[in-house]
Amino acid sequence: MADDLIITAHSKEEKYKELIPQIKALVEGEKDLIANLANICAALKYSMDFFWVGFYFVKEDQLVLGPFQGPVACTRIDKGKGVCGTSWEKQQTIIVEDVDQFPGHIACSSLSKSEIVLPLFNAAGNVAGVMDVDSDTLASFDTTDETYLKQIIALLKI
Ligand code: SME
Repeated sequence: MADDLIITAHSKEEKYKELIPQIKALVEGEKDLIANLANICAALKYSMDFFWVGFYFVKEDQLVLGPFQGPVACTRIDKGKGVCGTSWEKQQTIIVEDVDQFPGHIACSSLSKSEIVLPLFNAAGNVAGVMDVDSDTLASFDTTDETYLKQIIALLKI
């Protein structure tokens, strides 16, 4: 199966509601994490029209770039640095309405204007990585994105 996902809704919340069962169907028959992350990036990028969506994973003392869709990105981020490193350190979701106002924001692309980063927890309850979504418009993300992106992350065995 490799047909395009079908999204007919217009509101963000309705789009997520249509998309999530389709992502569930996409990943539930596959146990390889990288394959599932790669497909989730493509599904989100093209259904939600995100500028950049991807994953970073904790490797030793840094976050290292994993599967993504969008322009090329920074490969390594230190703990506590940028939005991603801060989400890792604080173990919480961070929503940034204007990246220029976030101290230490790491600009992989000058076109990125707002951002949401969610920590990925492993079975032991430790942060194993982060999911990062960027928009090229200001204030694109809110708690609706947090709610539904968490549901997508919950489909993964990290
Ligand atoms: N802006 C992020 C870096 C990753 S890129 O946006 C893909 C940050 O400040 O952590």
